[in-house]
Amino acid sequence: MEGNFTYCNPTKIYFGEGALENLTDELKKYGKVVQLIYGGGSIKKNGIYEKVVNILKKCEKNIVEDGGVMPNPTNEKLIHGVQIARKNHVDLLLAVGGGSVCDYAKAVSVSVHCKEDPWKKYYIDFEEPDCPILPVGCVLTMVGTGSEMNAGSVITNHAEKLKIGHVFGSEVMPKFTVLDPTFTYTVPLRQMVAGIYDAFNHICEQYFSGEDDNVSDDLSEALMRSIVKNSRKALKDPLNYEARSNIMWAATWALNTFLSRGKTTDWEVHMLGQAVGAYTDATHGMTLSAVSLPYYRHILPYGVKKFARFAREVWGISEEGTEETIANKGLEALDNWMKELGVARDLTSLGVTENMIEGIADATRVMDGGYHVLTRPEIVEILKESL
Ligand code: NZQ
Ligand code: ZN
Repeated sequence: MEGNFTYCNPTKIYFGEGALENLTDELKKYGKVVQLIYGGGSIKKNGIYEKVVNILKKCEKNIVEDGGVMPNPTNEKLIHGVQIARKNHVDLLLAVGGGSVCDYAKAVSVSVHCKEDPWKKYYIDFEEPDCPILPVGCVLTMVGTGSEMNAGSVITNHAEKLKIGHVFGSEVMPKFTVLDPTFTYTVPLRQMVAGIYDAFNHICEQYFSGEDDNVSDDLSEALMRSIVKNSRKALKDPLNYEARSNIMWAATWALNTFLSRGKTTDWEVHMLGQAVGAYTDATHGMTLSAVSLPYYRHILPYGVKKFARFAREVWGISEEGTEETIANKGLEALDNWMKELGVARDLTSLGVTENMIEGIADATRVMDGGYHVLTRPEIVEILKESL
Protein backbone atom coordinates (compact mmCIF):
# COMPACT_ATOMS: atom_id res chain seq x y z
CA MET A 1 0.00 0.00 0.00
CA GLU A 2 1.23 3.49 -0.80
CA GLY A 3 0.05 5.34 2.27
CA ASN A 4 -1.73 5.39 5.60
CA PHE A 5 -5.44 6.07 5.59
CA THR A 6 -8.67 6.48 7.52
CA TYR A 7 -11.73 4.59 6.37
CA CYS A 8 -15.20 5.34 7.61
CA ASN A 9 -18.43 4.76 5.75
CA PRO A 10 -21.47 5.19 7.99
CA THR A 11 -24.16 4.59 5.31
CA LYS A 12 -26.43 1.73 6.28
CA ILE A 13 -27.48 -0.28 3.22
CA TYR A 14 -30.75 -2.17 2.84
CA PHE A 15 -30.31 -4.31 -0.26
CA GLY A 16 -32.66 -6.49 -2.29
CA GLU A 17 -36.19 -6.81 -3.58
CA GLY A 18 -38.63 -5.45 -0.98
CA ALA A 19 -35.88 -3.62 0.94
CA LEU A 20 -38.05 -0.48 1.05
CA GLU A 21 -39.94 -1.96 4.01
CA ASN A 22 -36.93 -1.01 6.16
CA LEU A 23 -37.77 2.64 5.62
CA THR A 24 -40.36 2.38 8.40
CA ASP A 25 -37.72 1.66 11.06
CA GLU A 26 -35.32 4.25 9.69
CA LEU A 27 -37.99 6.97 9.76
CA LYS A 28 -38.48 6.42 13.51
CA LYS A 29 -35.01 7.91 14.09
CA TYR A 30 -35.90 11.33 12.68
CA GLY A 31 -38.32 14.17 13.35
CA LYS A 32 -41.71 14.72 11.82
CA VAL A 33 -40.95 16.80 8.73
CA VAL A 34 -39.56 14.98 5.68
CA GLN A 35 -38.52 16.79 2.50
CA LEU A 36 -39.34 14.28 -0.24
CA ILE A 37 -36.86 14.94 -3.03
CA TYR A 38 -37.25 13.43 -6.50
CA GLY A 39 -36.61 14.06 -10.17
CA GLY A 40 -38.72 14.75 -13.23
CA GLY A 41 -41.49 12.28 -12.52
CA SER A 42 -40.25 8.75 -13.31
CA ILE A 43 -41.07 7.66 -9.75
CA LYS A 44 -44.70 8.70 -10.23
CA LYS A 45 -44.98 6.58 -13.38
CA ASN A 46 -43.34 3.43 -11.99
CA GLY A 47 -45.13 3.42 -8.62
CA ILE A 48 -42.12 4.05 -6.36
CA TYR A 49 -43.50 7.46 -5.31
CA GLU A 50 -46.74 5.91 -4.11
CA LYS A 51 -44.90 3.20 -2.15
CA VAL A 52 -42.68 5.77 -0.41
CA VAL A 53 -45.55 8.18 0.33
CA ASN A 54 -47.61 5.34 1.83
CA ILE A 55 -44.79 4.51 4.24
CA LEU A 56 -44.29 8.18 5.13
CA LYS A 57 -48.01 8.55 5.86
CA LYS A 58 -48.11 5.35 7.91
CA CYS A 59 -45.26 6.79 9.97
CA GLU A 60 -47.26 10.02 10.40
CA LYS A 61 -44.66 12.22 8.75
CA ASN A 62 -45.41 15.65 7.34
CA ILE A 63 -44.34 15.44 3.69
CA VAL A 64 -42.77 18.49 2.11
CA GLU A 65 -42.64 18.02 -1.66
CA ASP A 66 -39.44 18.87 -3.54
CA GLY A 67 -39.72 17.35 -7.02
CA GLY A 68 -38.27 18.42 -10.35
CA VAL A 69 -34.60 17.80 -9.61
CA MET A 70 -33.09 17.76 -13.09
CA PRO A 71 -30.30 15.47 -14.32
CA ASN A 72 -27.12 17.44 -13.51
CA PRO A 73 -28.79 19.49 -10.72
CA THR A 74 -28.28 23.23 -10.93
CA ASN A 75 -27.30 25.88 -8.44
CA GLU A 76 -30.71 27.57 -8.92
CA LYS A 77 -32.47 24.36 -7.92
CA LEU A 78 -30.16 24.06 -4.90
CA ILE A 79 -31.15 27.57 -3.75
CA HIS A 80 -34.81 26.60 -4.19
CA GLY A 81 -34.39 23.39 -2.18
CA VAL A 82 -32.66 25.25 0.64
CA GLN A 83 -35.59 27.71 0.83
CA ILE A 84 -38.06 24.81 1.06
CA ALA A 85 -36.07 23.18 3.88
CA ARG A 86 -35.69 26.43 5.83
CA LYS A 87 -39.33 27.43 5.49
CA ASN A 88 -40.63 24.04 6.64
CA HIS A 89 -38.04 23.30 9.37
CA VAL A 90 -37.25 19.98 7.73
CA ASP A 91 -35.88 17.11 9.85
CA LEU A 92 -34.89 14.62 7.13
CA LEU A 93 -34.07 14.91 3.43
CA LEU A 94 -35.34 11.78 1.68
CA ALA A 95 -33.89 11.44 -1.84
CA VAL A 96 -35.78 9.06 -4.14
CA GLY A 97 -34.07 8.86 -7.52
CA GLY A 98 -30.72 8.60 -9.25
CA GLY A 99 -27.37 10.25 -8.59
CA SER A 100 -28.71 13.71 -9.41
CA VAL A 101 -31.39 13.49 -6.73
CA CYS A 102 -28.98 12.07 -4.13
CA ASP A 103 -26.27 14.64 -4.95
CA TYR A 104 -28.79 17.46 -4.71
CA ALA A 105 -30.06 16.23 -1.34
CA LYS A 106 -26.50 16.26 0.00
CA ALA A 107 -25.94 19.78 -1.34
CA VAL A 108 -29.13 20.94 0.40
CA SER A 109 -28.07 19.15 3.60
CA VAL A 110 -24.90 21.24 3.98
CA SER A 111 -26.53 24.48 2.81
CA VAL A 112 -29.70 24.82 4.91
CA HIS A 113 -27.83 26.23 7.92
CA CYS A 114 -24.99 27.76 5.92
CA LYS A 115 -24.73 31.53 6.31
CA GLU A 116 -22.58 32.01 3.22
CA ASP A 117 -23.23 31.37 -0.48
CA PRO A 118 -23.07 27.54 -0.75
CA TRP A 119 -21.90 27.59 -4.39
CA LYS A 120 -18.91 29.77 -3.57
CA LYS A 121 -18.13 28.10 -0.24
CA TYR A 122 -18.36 24.45 -1.30
CA TYR A 123 -17.89 24.39 -5.07
CA ILE A 124 -15.46 27.23 -5.75
CA ASP A 125 -13.47 27.47 -2.51
CA PHE A 126 -13.89 23.76 -1.55
CA GLU A 127 -14.43 24.65 2.09
CA GLU A 128 -15.92 22.14 4.51
CA PRO A 129 -19.26 22.74 6.22
CA ASP A 130 -19.03 24.49 9.60
CA CYS A 131 -22.77 24.45 10.27
CA PRO A 132 -25.22 21.72 11.33
CA ILE A 133 -25.88 19.23 8.48
CA LEU A 134 -29.35 17.84 7.83
CA PRO A 135 -29.54 14.04 7.64
CA VAL A 136 -30.07 12.48 4.20
CA GLY A 137 -31.62 9.10 3.37
CA CYS A 138 -31.72 7.64 -0.15
CA VAL A 139 -33.91 5.29 -2.13
CA LEU A 140 -31.90 4.66 -5.29
CA THR A 141 -33.72 4.18 -8.59
CA MET A 142 -30.86 4.42 -11.09
CA VAL A 143 -27.43 2.81 -10.84
CA GLY A 144 -24.07 4.37 -11.64
CA THR A 145 -22.82 7.30 -9.60
CA GLY A 146 -22.21 5.68 -6.22
CA SER A 147 -23.80 8.77 -4.66
CA GLU A 148 -25.95 6.47 -2.50
CA MET A 149 -22.95 5.54 -0.32
CA ASN A 150 -20.55 8.43 -0.68
CA ALA A 151 -20.21 12.10 0.22
CA GLY A 152 -19.87 13.38 -3.34
CA SER A 153 -22.22 16.07 -4.61
CA VAL A 154 -21.96 17.51 -8.11
CA ILE A 155 -23.70 20.81 -8.94
CA THR A 156 -23.88 22.59 -12.28
CA ASN A 157 -23.76 26.37 -12.56
CA HIS A 158 -24.90 27.28 -16.07
CA ALA A 159 -24.27 31.00 -15.60
CA GLU A 160 -20.61 30.30 -14.82
CA LYS A 161 -20.42 27.35 -17.24
CA LEU A 162 -19.04 25.11 -14.51
CA LYS A 163 -19.98 21.63 -13.27
CA ILE A 164 -18.14 20.89 -10.05
CA GLY A 165 -18.16 18.04 -7.56
CA HIS A 166 -17.28 18.41 -3.90
CA VAL A 167 -16.38 15.27 -1.99
CA PHE A 168 -17.41 16.08 1.57
CA GLY A 169 -16.53 14.17 4.73
CA SER A 170 -18.32 11.06 5.99
CA GLU A 171 -20.79 13.22 8.00
CA VAL A 172 -22.42 14.14 4.65
CA MET A 173 -22.85 10.54 3.50
CA PRO A 174 -26.45 9.29 3.49
CA LYS A 175 -27.45 7.87 6.88
CA PHE A 176 -29.18 5.00 5.08
CA THR A 177 -29.85 3.85 1.53
CA VAL A 178 -32.41 1.46 0.11
CA LEU A 179 -31.07 -0.50 -2.88
CA ASP A 180 -33.83 -2.49 -4.55
CA PRO A 181 -32.59 -3.69 -7.98
CA THR A 182 -36.18 -4.06 -9.22
CA PHE A 183 -36.56 -0.27 -8.86
CA THR A 184 -34.07 0.09 -11.72
CA TYR A 185 -36.06 -2.03 -14.20
CA THR A 186 -37.82 1.02 -15.68
CA VAL A 187 -34.60 2.99 -16.30
CA PRO A 188 -34.43 3.69 -20.07
CA LEU A 189 -31.75 1.67 -21.90
CA ARG A 190 -29.72 4.79 -22.71
CA GLN A 191 -29.56 5.71 -19.01
CA MET A 192 -28.86 2.12 -17.97
CA VAL A 193 -25.77 1.86 -20.20
CA ALA A 194 -24.61 5.37 -19.24
CA GLY A 195 -24.79 4.34 -15.59
CA ILE A 196 -22.92 1.10 -16.26
CA TYR A 197 -20.14 2.97 -18.02
CA ASP A 198 -20.03 5.57 -15.24
CA ALA A 199 -19.53 2.88 -12.59
CA PHE A 200 -16.85 1.14 -14.69
CA ASN A 201 -15.05 4.43 -15.20
CA HIS A 202 -15.09 5.20 -11.47
CA ILE A 203 -13.01 2.06 -11.05
CA CYS A 204 -10.69 3.03 -13.93
CA GLU A 205 -10.14 6.43 -12.32
CA GLN A 206 -8.88 4.72 -9.17
CA TYR A 207 -7.00 1.96 -11.02
CA PHE A 208 -4.90 3.89 -13.55
CA SER A 209 -2.53 5.40 -11.01
CA GLY A 210 0.27 4.26 -8.73
CA GLU A 211 2.95 1.65 -9.27
CA ASP A 212 2.80 -0.54 -6.18
CA ASP A 213 0.95 -3.80 -5.65
CA ASN A 214 -2.16 -3.16 -3.59
CA VAL A 215 -5.46 -4.70 -2.55
CA SER A 216 -7.41 -1.97 -4.31
CA ASP A 217 -6.18 -2.89 -7.78
CA ASP A 218 -6.98 -6.58 -7.25
CA LEU A 219 -10.49 -5.69 -6.08
CA SER A 220 -10.89 -3.23 -8.93
CA GLU A 221 -10.16 -5.91 -11.51
CA ALA A 222 -12.77 -8.22 -9.99
CA LEU A 223 -15.36 -5.44 -9.95
CA MET A 224 -14.60 -4.45 -13.55
CA ARG A 225 -14.91 -8.07 -14.75
CA SER A 226 -18.20 -8.38 -12.88
CA ILE A 227 -19.62 -5.19 -14.42
CA VAL A 228 -18.66 -6.27 -17.95
CA LYS A 229 -20.09 -9.79 -17.49
CA ASN A 230 -23.35 -8.58 -15.95
CA SER A 231 -23.76 -5.70 -18.41
CA ARG A 232 -23.90 -8.27 -21.22
CA LYS A 233 -26.61 -10.22 -19.38
CA ALA A 234 -28.57 -7.03 -18.65
CA LEU A 235 -28.36 -5.89 -22.26
CA LYS A 236 -29.89 -9.18 -23.41
CA ASP A 237 -32.45 -9.28 -20.64
CA PRO A 238 -32.96 -5.99 -18.75
CA LEU A 239 -35.26 -7.73 -16.24
CA ASN A 240 -32.58 -10.24 -15.19
CA TYR A 241 -32.51 -9.74 -11.39
CA GLU A 242 -29.13 -11.41 -10.97
CA ALA A 243 -27.51 -9.10 -13.52
CA ARG A 244 -29.20 -5.91 -12.32
CA SER A 245 -28.48 -6.65 -8.66
CA ASN A 246 -24.83 -7.46 -9.35
CA ILE A 247 -24.42 -4.24 -11.33
CA MET A 248 -26.12 -2.27 -8.55
CA TRP A 249 -23.87 -3.59 -5.81
CA ALA A 250 -20.69 -3.34 -7.90
CA ALA A 251 -21.52 0.27 -8.78
CA THR A 252 -21.97 1.11 -5.09
CA TRP A 253 -18.57 -0.40 -4.25
CA ALA A 254 -16.98 1.34 -7.22
CA LEU A 255 -17.33 4.67 -5.46
CA ASN A 256 -18.01 4.30 -1.75
CA THR A 257 -14.45 5.48 -0.90
CA PHE A 258 -13.20 1.94 -0.27
CA LEU A 259 -11.20 1.45 -3.49
CA SER A 260 -9.33 4.71 -3.15
CA ARG A 261 -7.86 3.88 0.25
CA GLY A 262 -4.10 3.45 0.32
CA LYS A 263 -3.44 4.53 -3.25
CA THR A 264 -3.33 7.53 -5.54
CA THR A 265 -6.21 8.14 -7.96
CA ASP A 266 -6.57 9.89 -11.30
CA TRP A 267 -10.08 11.34 -12.03
CA GLU A 268 -9.03 13.20 -15.20
CA VAL A 269 -11.71 11.52 -17.36
CA HIS A 270 -14.30 12.89 -14.92
CA MET A 271 -12.77 16.35 -15.03
CA LEU A 272 -12.98 16.34 -18.85
CA GLY A 273 -16.48 14.86 -18.75
CA GLN A 274 -17.76 17.38 -16.20
CA ALA A 275 -16.44 20.28 -18.28
CA VAL A 276 -18.28 18.82 -21.28
CA GLY A 277 -21.37 18.52 -19.07
CA ALA A 278 -21.15 22.20 -18.11
CA TYR A 279 -21.32 23.14 -21.79
CA THR A 280 -23.83 20.58 -23.06
CA ASP A 281 -25.82 19.29 -20.07
CA ALA A 282 -25.24 15.84 -21.61
CA THR A 283 -25.80 12.61 -19.66
CA HIS A 284 -22.87 12.15 -17.26
CA GLY A 285 -21.86 8.61 -18.27
CA MET A 286 -21.92 9.59 -21.95
CA THR A 287 -19.57 12.52 -21.38
CA LEU A 288 -17.11 10.06 -19.83
CA SER A 289 -17.37 7.45 -22.56
CA ALA A 290 -16.87 10.09 -25.26
CA VAL A 291 -13.49 11.24 -23.92
CA SER A 292 -12.18 8.00 -22.41
CA LEU A 293 -10.39 6.38 -25.34
CA PRO A 294 -8.59 9.52 -26.58
CA TYR A 295 -7.50 10.22 -22.98
CA TYR A 296 -6.34 6.67 -22.22
CA ARG A 297 -4.49 6.38 -25.54
CA HIS A 298 -2.78 9.65 -24.66
CA ILE A 299 -1.57 8.56 -21.22
CA LEU A 300 -0.85 4.92 -22.12
CA PRO A 301 2.89 5.55 -22.74
CA TYR A 302 3.22 6.84 -19.15
CA GLY A 303 1.53 3.82 -17.58
CA VAL A 304 2.16 0.96 -20.01
CA LYS A 305 2.62 -1.65 -17.29
CA LYS A 306 -0.79 -0.96 -15.74
CA PHE A 307 -2.56 -0.78 -19.08
CA ALA A 308 -1.05 -4.17 -20.03
CA ARG A 309 -2.22 -5.56 -16.68
CA PHE A 310 -5.70 -4.13 -17.39
CA ALA A 311 -5.67 -5.95 -20.77
CA ARG A 312 -4.72 -9.27 -19.20
CA GLU A 313 -6.73 -9.19 -15.98
CA VAL A 314 -9.92 -7.43 -17.08
CA TRP A 315 -10.20 -8.43 -20.74
CA GLY A 316 -8.42 -11.80 -20.68
CA ILE A 317 -5.90 -10.85 -23.39
CA SER A 318 -3.48 -13.77 -23.44
CA GLU A 319 -1.46 -13.05 -26.57
CA GLU A 320 2.30 -12.65 -26.56
CA GLY A 321 3.83 -9.31 -27.48
CA THR A 322 5.44 -6.20 -26.06
CA GLU A 323 3.80 -4.59 -23.05
CA GLU A 324 2.72 -1.75 -25.32
CA THR A 325 1.04 -4.09 -27.81
CA ILE A 326 -0.85 -5.87 -25.01
CA ALA A 327 -1.78 -2.52 -23.44
CA ASN A 328 -3.27 -1.32 -26.73
CA LYS A 329 -5.23 -4.56 -27.06
CA GLY A 330 -6.83 -3.79 -23.71
CA LEU A 331 -8.00 -0.41 -24.92
CA GLU A 332 -9.36 -2.04 -28.09
CA ALA A 333 -11.33 -4.45 -25.90
CA LEU A 334 -12.65 -1.51 -23.86
CA ASP A 335 -13.68 0.23 -27.09
CA ASN A 336 -15.45 -2.91 -28.32
CA TRP A 337 -17.37 -3.18 -25.05
CA MET A 338 -18.39 0.47 -25.35
CA LYS A 339 -19.76 -0.35 -28.82
CA GLU A 340 -21.71 -3.29 -27.35
CA LEU A 341 -23.19 -1.01 -24.69
CA GLY A 342 -24.00 1.67 -27.23
CA VAL A 343 -22.53 4.52 -25.17
CA ALA A 344 -21.30 7.73 -26.82
CA ARG A 345 -17.85 7.36 -28.38
CA ASP A 346 -17.53 10.93 -29.61
CA LEU A 347 -18.34 14.41 -28.35
CA THR A 348 -20.06 15.57 -31.54
CA SER A 349 -23.02 13.30 -30.83
CA LEU A 350 -23.36 15.05 -27.45
CA GLY A 351 -23.63 18.46 -29.09
CA VAL A 352 -20.03 19.62 -28.74
CA THR A 353 -18.75 21.78 -31.59
CA GLU A 354 -15.21 22.87 -32.39
CA ASN A 355 -15.83 26.42 -31.15
CA MET A 356 -16.62 25.09 -27.65
CA ILE A 357 -13.26 23.35 -27.23
CA GLU A 358 -11.34 26.28 -25.72
CA GLY A 359 -14.12 26.94 -23.20
CA ILE A 360 -14.35 23.26 -22.25
CA ALA A 361 -10.58 23.21 -21.81
CA ASP A 362 -10.86 26.24 -19.51
CA ALA A 363 -13.49 24.41 -17.43
CA THR A 364 -11.38 21.23 -17.11
CA ARG A 365 -9.59 20.83 -13.80
CA VAL A 366 -6.14 19.28 -14.07
CA MET A 367 -5.52 16.45 -11.62
CA ASP A 368 -2.07 15.24 -10.60
CA GLY A 369 -2.66 11.73 -9.27
CA GLY A 370 -2.62 9.79 -12.54
CA TYR A 371 0.21 8.65 -14.80
CA HIS A 372 0.59 12.02 -16.47
CA VAL A 373 -0.37 15.59 -15.61
CA LEU A 374 -2.02 17.13 -18.66
CA THR A 375 -0.93 20.46 -20.06
CA ARG A 376 -3.51 22.77 -21.60
CA PRO A 377 -2.44 21.97 -25.21
CA GLU A 378 -2.84 18.27 -24.36
CA ILE A 379 -6.36 18.87 -23.02
CA VAL A 380 -7.28 20.66 -26.23
CA GLU A 381 -5.74 17.85 -28.29
CA ILE A 382 -7.69 15.16 -26.39
CA LEU A 383 -10.94 17.12 -26.72
CA LYS A 384 -10.38 17.57 -30.47
CA GLU A 385 -9.61 13.88 -30.87
CA SER A 386 -12.87 13.13 -29.03
CA LEU A 387 -15.03 15.18 -31.42
O1 NZQ B 1 -35.76 12.68 -13.23
P1 NZQ B 1 -36.50 11.41 -13.38
O2 NZQ B 1 -37.83 11.56 -13.99
O3 NZQ B 1 -36.51 10.58 -12.14
O4 NZQ B 1 -35.69 10.54 -14.53
C1 NZQ B 1 -34.34 10.17 -14.35
C2 NZQ B 1 -33.40 11.00 -15.22
O5 NZQ B 1 -34.04 11.48 -16.36
C3 NZQ B 1 -34.16 8.78 -14.92
N1 NZQ B 1 -34.46 7.72 -13.94
C4 NZQ B 1 -33.87 7.50 -12.76
N2 NZQ B 1 -34.38 6.39 -12.18
C5 NZQ B 1 -35.33 5.93 -13.03
C6 NZQ B 1 -35.38 6.78 -14.16
N3 NZQ B 1 -36.24 6.58 -15.17
C7 NZQ B 1 -37.06 5.53 -15.09
N4 NZQ B 1 -37.05 4.64 -14.07
C8 NZQ B 1 -36.21 4.80 -13.01
N5 NZQ B 1 -36.17 3.91 -12.01
O6 NZQ B 1 -32.80 8.71 -15.29
C9 NZQ B 1 -32.36 10.00 -15.69
C10 NZQ B 1 -30.98 10.24 -15.13
O7 NZQ B 1 -31.03 10.33 -13.71
P2 NZQ B 1 -29.78 10.97 -12.93
O8 NZQ B 1 -30.08 10.90 -11.50
O9 NZQ B 1 -29.46 12.30 -13.53
O10 NZQ B 1 -28.61 9.97 -13.36
P3 NZQ B 1 -27.31 9.55 -12.58
O11 NZQ B 1 -27.64 8.58 -11.52
O12 NZQ B 1 -26.36 9.13 -13.62
O13 NZQ B 1 -26.78 10.90 -11.88
C11 NZQ B 1 -26.02 11.84 -12.59
C12 NZQ B 1 -25.49 12.94 -11.69
O14 NZQ B 1 -24.63 12.42 -10.68
C13 NZQ B 1 -23.35 13.09 -10.74
C14 NZQ B 1 -23.25 13.43 -12.21
O15 NZQ B 1 -22.27 14.40 -12.47
C15 NZQ B 1 -24.65 13.92 -12.52
O16 NZQ B 1 -24.82 15.25 -12.10
N6 NZQ B 1 -22.28 12.23 -10.17
C16 NZQ B 1 -22.22 12.06 -8.85
C17 NZQ B 1 -21.19 11.39 -8.23
C18 NZQ B 1 -21.07 11.21 -6.78
N7 NZQ B 1 -22.00 11.66 -5.98
O17 NZQ B 1 -20.09 10.66 -6.31
C19 NZQ B 1 -20.08 10.81 -9.00
C20 NZQ B 1 -20.39 10.68 -10.45
O18 NZQ B 1 -19.15 10.60 -11.13
C21 NZQ B 1 -21.20 11.77 -11.02
O19 NZQ B 1 -20.38 12.89 -11.33
ZN1 ZN C 1 -19.07 9.39 -12.66
